[in-house]
Amino acid sequence: MATAKNPRKILVTSALPYANGSIHLGHLVEYIQTDIWVRFQKMQGHTVHYVCADDTHGTPIMLRAEKEGITPEALIANVHKEHSADFAEFLVQFDNYYSTNAPENKELSQGIYKKLKAAGKIATKTIEQFYDPVKNMFLPDRFIKGECPKCHAKDQYGDSCEVCGATYNPTELINAYSAVSGAAPVRKETEHYFFKLSECEQFLKDWTRSGTLQGEAANKMGEWFENGLNDWDISRDAPYFGFEIPDAPGKYFYVWLDAPIGYMASFKNICQAKGLDFDEYWAKDSKAELYHFIGKDILYFHALFWPATLEFSGHRKPTQIFAHGFLTVNGEKMSKSRGTFITARSYLDHIKNPEYLRYYYAAKLNSTMEDIDLNLEDFVARVNSDLVGKYINIASRTAGFINKRFDGQLNPSANNSVVVEIKAASQLLADSYAEREYGKALREIMRLADLANGFVAASAPWVIAKQEGQDAVLQQVCSDALEMFRLLTLYLKPVLPKLVGEIEQFLNITSLDWLDVDTSLAVQHRINAYEHLITRVEPKLIEAMTEANKENLTATSAPQPHSEQRHAVHQQSEANSDAAEAEYISIDDFTKVDLRIARIVNAEHVEGAEKLLKLTLDIGEEKPRQVFAGIKFAYDPATLVGRLTVMVANLAPRKMKFGLSEGMVLAASDERGGPFILSPDAGAQLGMRVK
Ligand code: 2FM
Ligand code: ZN
Repeated sequence: MATAKNPRKILVTSALPYANGSIHLGHLVEYIQTDIWVRFQKMQGHTVHYVCADDTHGTPIMLRAEKEGITPEALIANVHKEHSADFAEFLVQFDNYYSTNAPENKELSQGIYKKLKAAGKIATKTIEQFYDPVKNMFLPDRFIKGECPKCHAKDQYGDSCEVCGATYNPTELINAYSAVSGAAPVRKETEHYFFKLSECEQFLKDWTRSGTLQGEAANKMGEWFENGLNDWDISRDAPYFGFEIPDAPGKYFYVWLDAPIGYMASFKNICQAKGLDFDEYWAKDSKAELYHFIGKDILYFHALFWPATLEFSGHRKPTQIFAHGFLTVNGEKMSKSRGTFITARSYLDHIKNPEYLRYYYAAKLNSTMEDIDLNLEDFVARVNSDLVGKYINIASRTAGFINKRFDGQLNPSANNSVVVEIKAASQLLADSYAEREYGKALREIMRLADLANGFVAASAPWVIAKQEGQDAVLQQVCSDALEMFRLLTLYLKPVLPKLVGEIEQFLNITSLDWLDVDTSLAVQHRINAYEHLITRVEPKLIEAMTEANKENLTATSAPQPHSEQRHAVHQQSEANSDAAEAEYISIDDFTKVDLRIARIVNAEHVEGAEKLLKLTLDIGEEKPRQVFAGIKFAYDPATLVGRLTVMVANLAPRKMKFGLSEGMVLAASDERGGPFILSPDAGAQLGMRVK
């Protein structure tokens, strides 16, 4: 590891993902963006700690655990394992991946609260909230549903209508009901604790002007200041999965109070083992740097609540907050019906190589809050053309000659002009990485790769190899090309750490740091045998992945209402818009659907499938149908055997990960329960058409 001229102490975080959903390609934009930055800074020789954790508290996690019949602790432990594995396989290298449900976080959260209280920044207020009289709990807005007061669409959430876009208070919903129990909610008074954000305005204005935010984020802050800052409700009533507020029995910290404190807790958790001084990074006068990578949707929490919390509890503030935009896939929001709502695991199962995605995201990323698009066709083209066609090509066209003809020994020239030009780009590339202008960096690296390929093409080693007495020239040309390749490898290391590790082995060099730009492959240095380093992405892998992710919204996705859960909310609205698209079909469309009475002749668990049961359905045809249905949580397979149900018999067979699914069974579900498989009345016979 090289030592930087002015080594810096840097603490970096990515937003803490909620512990009740899988990591998907949308999440990965941020973790990949952060990981590249961290790896780059480490290559510079700085001391960097990259910490993160699962965000484990809140009502949705509590209710999901209840639904699954497990404790919240068991739920978050399972999810922690899943998330950790996903991140590791995408080469996101945290120095600690912790949990907000941890003793360090409890102590820090309660300590910070006490400091805020002592600073006069906590107030209590009695408010009126909706209460579920059956479940005996207060309901967050998104757990209240009803008819939209504007357009009268049914089953809309308590804060906004997904059909007409209106926003309103839950009190305005017509025929409101609890999404938890279905009961009509009642209004009930309760005392809540507030952080007096309204008193922090001057501090926040000064802090905003200190260069901590991107231009767009500072503008957004300006809008918020104009509208005036409201005090922040930081408490929730029991039952709530979280930390109790000191001296306030039955009152819990709202998940967003302890979530960012989870950054501190995750760091604190490694201090002892790594011999780090917690205060050196978090005390008010800390000289260390602190950077938070976040999505633009949580800017409010990080640019208002968080610095104010830190300031008035006697801590340092973030050095900078780096907000990025959302991910679209093929120009649209990720969609379950189009198969573009892709989890990290599904990507790994199909495409296998995480570095393709890391490269593609890097090529698209810049320092702004603009959304980035994963165009799947472009993804294939870009990865194949840049990584395989340009970069790896340099080694694959030259290494063989060195291995076969010179026993792996190099003999580079003293100052090849292309090598000089590639070395000269070092500062520009370092600046681009540091400024999160990864797209700019990769464009420059590919321009340099073009130059290297131009050199190889013009030198034509395959022609020289056939000429008598030209061995020295052949060795030099190939050695120079490999030196170019080494430099490009160094530049790509933050993005492609695994591939670069393999290349370091092949080149027989120690782990590359940024300062190695100033070194060179020496005369007589011996490389190892060249082995195939990367394969092209096959378009058919992409097709298989999107096919496998096309979800049958009726049978396999029971929507879950998740207040406070931005990613899940996206899924939810997508499910609704798919339903809305399907609302007006013609009678002809309907008669195209071949619905049949089917007998379930066998039902069994599917190894490795979280949601699916494998059903064998008899509809009177010669061969029974095999159907995978997302009903595992709701049914013991043994209880299904022998039952009649309704199936779609002419649905195109779909190849799923676990086998071919030849139809679909109909089932009802929403937040109140399910899925419930439909059954015909007595007298119906298998094979009958449903019309
Ligand atoms: O929006 C989210 O996904 C939150 N779980 C992010 C929390 S970031 C931090 F503040 F903890
Ligand atoms: Zn509406």
